[in-house]
Amino acid sequence: MFDDPSSLLAVFLRFGHIMFGIIWLGHLFFFNLVNVPFQGDLDKELKPKVNPKLLLRAFYWFRWGAMYTFLFGWAIFFFKYIQQGLFFDDAGHMSNRAAWILFGGLIGTIMWFNVWFVIWPRQKKILGGLAAGTPHPDAAKMAAVAGKASRFNTYASGPMLFGMIVPNNYAGWSHAGMGVALIIGVGFWYGLIKRSFKVKTTG
Ligand code: HEM
Repeated sequence: MFDDPSSLLAVFLRFGHIMFGIIWLGHLFFFNLVNVPFQGDLDKELKPKVNPKLLLRAFYWFRWGAMYTFLFGWAIFFFKYIQQGLFFDDAGHMSNRAAWILFGGLIGTIMWFNVWFVIWPRQKKILGGLAAGTPHPDAAKMAAVAGKASRFNTYASGPMLFGMIVPNNYAGWSHAGMGVALIIGVGFWYGLIKRSFKVKTTG
């Protein structure tokens, strides 16, 4: 193992990438599958007590999980595709593998952008106002925008993950496969989100 430092580096970069990816998406799924229906059930007067303390913690792990996943992801891309040459096939064209990882990596990058520039700036103001006892006047409007971006990210996570796992496991299946990945990935989340509103909370 230690006589092959470049493979070892690849292993550690993947470890970091996947660990932080799980932290990020774990919180994204908590927000969408647990917190959205929970907020519908939570009494209004309890929100200032419960939400800042719970959600500011969750948003900390969520946004930094996203940041490190993103940084590790592009580091792996640079290392494997640019430095080790996986970007091009033998004929000098973009390889199938590169097309797949660009499909996944670009969806992941849009999701990262949503976390840092759409969702978090708004939630920071909403939850900060709630914690300080001075709710932000535009809280409802900001919550709607942040909620849409969060839903988008949940649907996008399905096709994105296909784009992460196909490159290392399947050599072909490029354009039609991406269409299938979009349909299956989005459909999977459509089903789970519908289910999230029907989960029994009475024991
Ligand atoms: C934010 C943008 C992201 C970028 C730029 C990115 C980039 C990459 C790259 C370059 C690879 C290596 C692909 C290969 O072996 O050919 C990879 C693999 C992978 N990524 Fe991402 N990724 C991102 C987001 C995510 C997220 C959110 C997750 C969620 C857990 C994730 C999970 C994985 C997994 C499971 C692999 C497979 C590792 C393997 O096959 O050994 N990625 N990613």
